[in-house]
Amino acid sequence: MADLTRTIQQKAEFHFDYMVQTRRYLHKNPEISFKEHDTTDYILHELKKLGIDTYRPLDTGCVGIIEGGKKSDRVIALRADIDALSMEEEGEAKAEFVSEREGAAHCCGHDAHTANLLGTAQILSEMQDEIEGKILLIFQPAEETLPGGGRLLTESGFLQEKGVQSIYGLHTNPDYAPGQIAVKSGPLMARPDEFEITIKGVGGHAATPHLTVDPIVLMGQVISQFQTIVSRSIDPTEPAVVTIGRVRGGTTYNVIPAKAEMIGTVRTFSEKNAYLVRDRMEQILKGITEPAGGGYEFAFNEGYPAVINDEELTQKLMSAARSVLGSDGVIELKKPIMAGEDFAFYQQEFPGAFFFLGSGSEEADSKWSWHHPRYNVDEKCMLTGSALMAGLVMGE
Ligand code: NI
Repeated sequence: MADLTRTIQQKAEFHFDYMVQTRRYLHKNPEISFKEHDTTDYILHELKKLGIDTYRPLDTGCVGIIEGGKKSDRVIALRADIDALSMEEEGEAKAEFVSEREGAAHCCGHDAHTANLLGTAQILSEMQDEIEGKILLIFQPAEETLPGGGRLLTESGFLQEKGVQSIYGLHTNPDYAPGQIAVKSGPLMARPDEFEITIKGVGGHAATPHLTVDPIVLMGQVISQFQTIVSRSIDPTEPAVVTIGRVRGGTTYNVIPAKAEMIGTVRTFSEKNAYLVRDRMEQILKGITEPAGGGYEFAFNEGYPAVINDEELTQKLMSAARSVLGSDGVIELKKPIMAGEDFAFYQQEFPGAFFFLGSGSEEADSKWSWHHPRYNVDEKCMLTGSALMAGLVMGE
């Protein structure tokens, strides 16, 4: 095992420049969710150069399949997401490879996830004879946008048809350093749902409020009452969040508007709690607006399920990580985080484990949070990530 690990690490070091160049190319040429056409062509080209069979189950994104030299029915999938965000980026550290496409930027590290998995493909294709069974390399589109590429790919039936038995994925994380990973068994990332609310009143002159139904006042009460959902209706040992991200109503000083709007997000770890929050929101809306003579519209848009890591695969992941990174490199998280990930859709079908790849350092100016305009990764994280992905497949 020690020899195998050393071989994999040497290969990762050998392919490090390739991963850096690939990541920088993708960073310069970002494409947003469901529009990753050039990115997909680029990945297909790279996989074909290695003689890897490629498939396109969806319009964008692709899957490479490595047939191992050792016959076995074992089928393991490794997943990277490939999409960028609709935003403009900032930051000196990225000056050499800043986005050349207006309104798109890799500020969530998916450029590094893609380059890392292409690096893994390089390593594995050199070790093909020693691989047992099949390895699927999933380059998934549209992690950032509902319904989520992970959902579409899972629903396409492609992975089931190829007999996938387990799946691993990662996300760069600025809270940890290159050479570290962080993971936990069980709940790791939350279920994010979104809501849109319109509170309907009767508009009129600001000086005659008695002739109106003021939706701004109703909205104020709704906002206050929403603060009791988590504190009074959810089991206090189970994490949940209700955040209103935007409120909008009215036009000027002396007009009472006819409606007011707000949107926001709900984070939970179960369908049960998500639906409990949804139902409480609706009861509050009804209870506040109707007696006042107003009304409401309420849309609750279901997002991704929670990321729940399989116990056995998490153990395998941690043991592979200890041999590749040493035990100091493996951080076992005590608590989940409230961000969401569409990797969860795969886990509804197959046992899966998702982990955070440390990518934060002062030198690389890469300690900014996900989706910050200065988000960056310390590229050394790909040494760790590619070696670990390869180690998982070879050593399992
Ligand atoms: Ni992301």
